[in-house]
Amino acid sequence: MPDNRFFRNLVAGMRNGVLAIDREGRMLLINEEACRILDVALEPGDADRHFSSLLKDHHDIVRVLASAFDMATLPNRAELRLRPSGKVIGYTLSLVRDERGRPYGAALFFKDLTLVEQAEERDRLRDRLATLGEMAAMIAHEVKNPLASIEVMAGLLRRQVPDREDLRGLATDIINEAKMANAIVVEVLEFVRPIRLQVDRTSVPKVIEEAVPLAESKVPRRATRLEIDVPGGLPAIQGDHHQLVQVVTNLLINALEALDGGGTIRVGARLVPEDHDGSAAVELVIEDDGPGVPGDITSRIFNPFFTTKPQGSGLGLPIVRKIVDAHDGRIDVATSAGRGTTFTVTLPVGVPGQLGF
Ligand SMILES: Nc1ncnc2c1ncn2[C@@H]1O[C@H](COP(=O)(O)OP(=O)(O)OP(=O)(O)O)[C@@H](O)[C@H]1O
Ligand SMILES: [Mg+2]
Repeated sequence: MPDNRFFRNLVAGMRNGVLAIDREGRMLLINEEACRILDVALEPGDADRHFSSLLKDHHDIVRVLASAFDMATLPNRAELRLRPSGKVIGYTLSLVRDERGRPYGAALFFKDLTLVEQAEERDRLRDRLATLGEMAAMIAHEVKNPLASIEVMAGLLRRQVPDREDLRGLATDIINEAKMANAIVVEVLEFVRPIRLQVDRTSVPKVIEEAVPLAESKVPRRATRLEIDVPGGLPAIQGDHHQLVQVVTNLLINALEALDGGGTIRVGARLVPEDHDGSAAVELVIEDDGPGVPGDITSRIFNPFFTTKPQGSGLGLPIVRKIVDAHDGRIDVATSAGRGTTFTVTLPVGVPGQLGF
């Protein structure tokens, strides 16, 4: 039979908090983990003090322990939140009985559940976001039709007042605003919709060629220089042409916006014969010499709805990432204040499982 010292050490080293009192309320034991969770520091003379004064910041625990000898059923695996720290503990209360079965002590065993709580909260948040995505898709869908009607009717109205320039101007404003709202709706829909790739042999130079005028139609280039540096003989990749055009367009739009009519954008592409996993990839680089992304926001630029622009919806980069991920590719960003920003998109030449060769 192990001796007393063994039991003392066993309790001291337990990974649960253990705390026991006798009928008079003397603290018989409190182990290290209990002190840590409850944030109490014991002084040598504390052993004889009433437990309620030692745990004066923890009214809930005092209440549970004080009622231990009167309770018909003792709490088992119950939870409570500690007032001072906000920590959540899971606890079980037991009575310590003598040889004749009479209770002469009460012991509380408890565990810090804060981390478990946080993980559960993250899971709940993920579920909520998924539901939110579905809801956003539904709302966006419902809003599209009335928006189209507003646009059509404002157009009809404009035609009814050929000689009222003021009213025609107002109708044009309505049409433009409805168009803008529609563009946001389309973007939200695009973002929340699960991605389906139409994979085909896709030429990266053609993707770039198509993306440039699209980007310039959204943000006029003005005096910004555009250098395209794509070597001949780049292999076609297995990808979705239309979605890849969107990737390059969104990155170009951001670069044009960052440069605000000045500076230089360089678009490059090159073959990486052996990417890190040994297969060939095409690397697409979109580089600007604009102001760069401020250090404290770099980690957030891919978050949905994160934007620093008054008119931005913050979906440009999340959409880019979603499309690149669907291609089993990756996107990296390098940026430095005052020097500019470089986005590098690496796309495997063949999409695994969809290769056909
Ligand atoms: N080339 C860049 N230079 C500097 N900052 C950039 C660049 N590209 C992106 N950013 C920063 O990242 C943020 C998020 O970009 P993202 O494209 O997702 O949204 P947005 O451009 O703000 O809005 P949207 O693209 O939906 O119109 C931008 O608001 C900007 O702060
Ligand atoms: Mg953008």
